[in-house]
Amino acid sequence: MPKPRMTTTMWHPFANMAELGGRAVRIVRGEGCTVYDEDGRAYLDATASLWYCNVGHGRRELADAAQAQMTTLAGFHTFEAYANPAAESLCDRLAELAPMQGARVFLTAGGGSDAVDTAAKLARAYWSAAGRPDKRVILSRSFAYHGMNAYGTSLGGMAANVEPYGSLIPEVGQVPWDDASGLSTAIDLAGAERVAAFFCEPVVGAGGVLLPPRGYLERVQAICREREVLLVVDEVITGFGRLGAWFGSLRFGLVPDLLVCAKGLTSGYLPLGAVVASSRVAAPFWEAGSTRVFRHGYTYSGHPTACAVALANLGIIEREGLVARVRELERVLASALQPLRSCDLVAAVRSGVGLLAGIEIREDRRQADPALMSKLVAAARERGVITRSLAGRALQVSPPFVISEAEVGRIADVMATVLADAA
Ligand SMILES: Cc1ncc(COP(=O)(O)O)c(C=O)c1O
Repeated sequence: MPKPRMTTTMWHPFANMAELGGRAVRIVRGEGCTVYDEDGRAYLDATASLWYCNVGHGRRELADAAQAQMTTLAGFHTFEAYANPAAESLCDRLAELAPMQGARVFLTAGGGSDAVDTAAKLARAYWSAAGRPDKRVILSRSFAYHGMNAYGTSLGGMAANVEPYGSLIPEVGQVPWDDASGLSTAIDLAGAERVAAFFCEPVVGAGGVLLPPRGYLERVQAICREREVLLVVDEVITGFGRLGAWFGSLRFGLVPDLLVCAKGLTSGYLPLGAVVASSRVAAPFWEAGSTRVFRHGYTYSGHPTACAVALANLGIIEREGLVARVRELERVLASALQPLRSCDLVAAVRSGVGLLAGIEIREDRRQADPALMSKLVAAARERGVITRSLAGRALQVSPPFVISEAEVGRIADVMATVLADAA
C-alpha cells in the first residue's frame, strides 16, 4: 500500500473524506496503460482514468502540441467575433466526424458537464427561436449520468447524485433506461408540444455499463422524430472510439440533433468539451438575416491550447488506427472476462460492444456487506489494477485503446482472484 500521509486541505470529489482520513493514492506518472504512485508502484489503469485516456498516458506528442500552441498563443477568448486557428480546425474536424450533415460545433470549456448544460440550454433556446417556447421539458433515463452542473445533476438517473440538491432545473423528467415505450408514454403525459429534448447515452457508462437492449436506440430515435423532440446523444464516454466507431451514434445508426462530447476529445490531456449541433438546430441562429444570439459560452470555450491538444489527439487516434483496434479488442476483452460469470459474487458481466465492461456484483452480497464494492476496488489496486465501483453495483473496465492483449488478460486474472478471495 502507498504510505499514508495526512493531507488536510484537499477535498476529493465523490469521496467520504471522514473515511479517507488524508490517505490518498498519489499518482505521479503515467506511461501507456500504466500509472505509478509516489512509491514507484505500478498500476494497470483499467479505467483509462475516468474513461478518458483513450490514447494512453505519457504521450510526448500531446505535450509538444500544447507547448507549441502555448508559446505562440496560449489563450484568447472566442466570445463575439474572436476565433483562433486551432479552435476553427477542431470544429471543422468534429463536424466532419459527426454523423450529421452540415453540423455546427459549439466548444465548451471544462469537460462533459459544461457540454451537457450547453446542449440542454441550446435545446430550449432552439424551440424558443423556432417559435415554440412552450417546449421546455427535458427527459432523461434512469441510471443516466450527465455530469454535475445544474442541468446534468437534474437529468441524472441515480438518486444519490440528485437528491441532496433539491430541484435545480424545473421541467425535467425521467424514463426507464431500457424501455422505449416508457419514452412515448412520458412524452404523451407531458404533451409533445411541451417536450424539448431527450438525453441519452448510447451505452450508459457511470450507471454501470448498461448496453442498450436490441433496437432500443433506433426506437427512441424514431419516437423523437415522430413527436418532434430533439434527440441529444451524450457521447462524453462513448465518443472518439470507445465503442469501436468514432461515435456511438455511428455504431448504432443514430443521427442526433445534438451530440455532446468531451473526455476522449483530448484523451484528458487538457479539459475540453463540445456540442455538435445539427443544421436544423443551428439554422435559427445561423440563417441569413437572423438576429438571434445563443447567449451562452465560457471564458475558456475554444481555448487554443486545449484545441491544439485535441487536434493532435485525434491525429493519434487516426494515425494509429485506434478505433479499429477497439473493434479488435472488444472481442478480446469480452472473452477474457467471460469466465468471471461463474464467480459466486458476480451477477453479470456486461461487455461485447467496444472497449468497456461492467462486472455486476450480486445485490444480496452487496446488501450483506455495504463496504463490499470498496473492498473489491482496494483489493484490485493491491494487486496492481485500478478499477472503480459504478453506481455502487458494478466494477468498471475501460482501459486505454493502446492496451495489449496480455494486459487485458492481466486485468481479467486480477479480477478473478479478487472476486474469488472476496467470495
Ligand atoms: C455520459 C457523461 N456525460 C457527462 C459527464 C460529465 O463530464 P465531466 O465530468 O467531464 O464534466 C460524464 C462524466 O463521466 C459522463 O459520463
